[in-house]
Amino acid sequence: MKSTDFGRLFEFQVFGDEEGSLVALESSKNIPFEIQRSYHIFGIMPGARRGFHAHKTLKQLAVCVRGTCKFLLDNGSEKKEVSLSNPRQGVLIDPMVWHEMFDFSPDAVLLVLADQHYDESDYIRNYDQFMKAAQERL
Ligand code: TYD
Repeated sequence: MKSTDFGRLFEFQVFGDEEGSLVALESSKNIPFEIQRSYHIFGIMPGARRGFHAHKTLKQLAVCVRGTCKFLLDNGSEKKEVSLSNPRQGVLIDPMVWHEMFDFSPDAVLLVLADQHYDESDYIRNYDQFMKAAQERL
């Protein structure tokens, strides 16, 4: 992976009319993997920061379907900050990208799509371990 490729931002097609808007997310169509799981994060306390981990193999795509939030993404050699401010956008979280989510608006609902079922053994929760593993891969 080229270092600039991570944290890709997606702009989804919106089907809209005068009555409202609709975004459809489909495996291997506008989502670049087969979706096996979704979860959503909401009711985040002011000032809270979440994440603080990377995944060894999991691919995820996050959409802030309501409100706003920010991501810090770090592939071990480069860091990026990405803001999600509307439900038409999504950010790809590749394997071996350390991520932290912050600046959640009080109404934020963050939907995350994932290509594997939940597996605690896929997490790297220690930043030093992540840096060591990431630098071996780059
Ligand atoms: P975690 O991934 O640590 O959340 P965050 O990155 O937002 O801080 O998960 C928090 C808890 O939820 C943890 O006990 C594991 C559990 N969990 C599941 O059971 N299934 C899931 O799909 C996810 C993402 C978490």
